Amino acid sequence: MKVLILGAAGVIGQKLGQTLAQRGHLRGETIDAMVLADVVAAKPFDAPFPLESVACDISNPASVAQVIGADVDVIYLLAAVVSSHAEEVLDDGLNINMMGTFHVLQRCRELETAPVVVFSSSNAVYGGEVPDPIIDETFLNPQTSYGTQKAIGELLLNDFSRRGLIDGRGFRLPTISVRPGKPNRAASGFMSSILREPLNGQEAICPVSEEFSHYYLSPRKCVENLIKGTEIPAEDLGENRCMIMPGKQWTIRQVIDAMTAVVGPEPAKLIKWESQPEIERIVTGWRFDFQPQKSLKLGLEADNSFEDNIRYYIEDDQPFA
Ligand SMILES: NC(=O)c1ccc[n+]([C@@H]2O[C@H](COP(=O)([O-])OP(=O)(O)OC[C@H]3O[C@@H](n4cnc5c(N)ncnc54)[C@H](O)[C@@H]3O)[C@@H](O)[C@H]2O)c1
Repeated sequence: MKVLILGAAGVIGQKLGQTLAQRGHLRGETIDAMVLADVVAAKPFDAPFPLESVACDISNPASVAQVIGADVDVIYLLAAVVSSHAEEVLDDGLNINMMGTFHVLQRCRELETAPVVVFSSSNAVYGGEVPDPIIDETFLNPQTSYGTQKAIGELLLNDFSRRGLIDGRGFRLPTISVRPGKPNRAASGFMSSILREPLNGQEAICPVSEEFSHYYLSPRKCVENLIKGTEIPAEDLGENRCMIMPGKQWTIRQVIDAMTAVVGPEPAKLIKWESQPEIERIVTGWRFDFQPQKSLKLGLEADNSFEDNIRYYIEDDQPFA
């Protein structure tokens, strides 16, 4: 079994690669080879099989053709530019998120090998005038370019799967927190930084009130869910291959209290409350009342508590911070 991760240098891509390397098998088969593809070099890690790190730009069909050969069994399509980047630079979102997805699917079509394609969509496909709670069947009504590009990807994934050109499965990821590393260009960045920076002894700014509610999932559970999602038999997925990945709703107060419950009161004192009207405007427009059913039924899971989420960060990422 050969696995290809597109977007392998990203937060989820790196963790997914390492988890698969520790696991060594997927869909009942031993993993024999893995390719880490990204526009920036993915960090190498120990693996019991040959690991190749290659440069690939999914917005370029020739570059995509170089990494997707007939021997690839499972493709993780994680490469993307994030929400605020796609909003600021429309062409990047169109070329990478929309056309990049198309190029990957077209390449699979050319090869006629129908690989499994696992697509990271986003809850940003929902929004606007639709009632709460948001369920799998709520119609896609994105209010950003990023959400629109992900919604187009979902439709293509469904259609290519219906035609038997790929075996696609798409998961609408919640906001991933606690996200390791440096802040990114996502408007949701503070939802990780108000925890990550204080856990590492640094100050952080919270631009919203403590009542602000949002829908979260830890990186560890996200990766576990992507792997479970890869292993679901195609016949159990039904016609619509895309679904909400489980997460849970927490307020800012609850996530800070969870940090305090795990590590004591000092880190929370490093959080400064400072209004940032532009961030507040964007994030208060987001939906947080999601009620996934299909993914839960298929065995995917949310975190049990936000305390668990803080512990995962301390175990998995803090030693490398
Ligand atoms: N993290 C979240 O909160 C979240 C929420 C919803 C959806 N998602 C989706 O999950 C996926 C992974 O997210 P992440 O948090 O790891 O993001 P990330 O930004 O850390 O990783 C994305 C990776 O894609 C790579 N990339 C960008 N343009 C590329 C191109 N043209 N060709 C090849 N690679 C390219 C980047 O270099 C980066 O390494 C993305 O598709 C994202 O849209 C993430």
